[in-house]
Amino acid sequence: MPEPEWLAGDAMGWQGPWGTTYPANLRLLFSAMTEQQWLVRARQPFRPPMPGASLRHMSNAELKAIFRYVKSLPVKGKLAPAYVPPGGQVVTPYFDLTPKNLPAVGASKPSARRAQGD
Ligand code: HEM
Repeated sequence: MPEPEWLAGDAMGWQGPWGTTYPANLRLLFSAMTEQQWLVRARQPFRPPMPGASLRHMSNAELKAIFRYVKSLPVKGKLAPAYVPPGGQVVTPYFDLTPKNLPAVGASKPSARRAQGD
């Protein structure tokens, strides 16, 4: 994707046990936020697949660098669609990240069973 399109959000959803989330339009979001507010928000929880832990582990200097980079881009685009809780109606396209074929709780791992010969 060319840089003029970066970080302007998207209406493609990501669905899993947490519901359906959409990548935020950071250009719009940061246009209404101070740097100090960003330092607080960056360390609060995010729903998947947003890698919130990666932001939490960044230093203030790193977070400020991200903020200033995004602020250097022109504000464009619209807000991403709102979060939809699990079971809610989703009207956009979305990827399904629901885990499938999970082992029953308490079952031994396949590799452990092979080692035991069953
Ligand atoms: C340095 C990298 C990133 C930054 C600074 C960032 C920043 C943010 C922020 C500030 C929000 C919250 C928007 C709000 O409060 O309304 C958000 C939400 C989100 N981001 Fe990121 N993001 C990054 C990387 C990613 C990546 C790599 C992904 C996907 C693989 C992702 C997916 C999402 C999603 C799905 C949401 C919505 C989460 C929710 O509804 O709680 N982000 N991001």
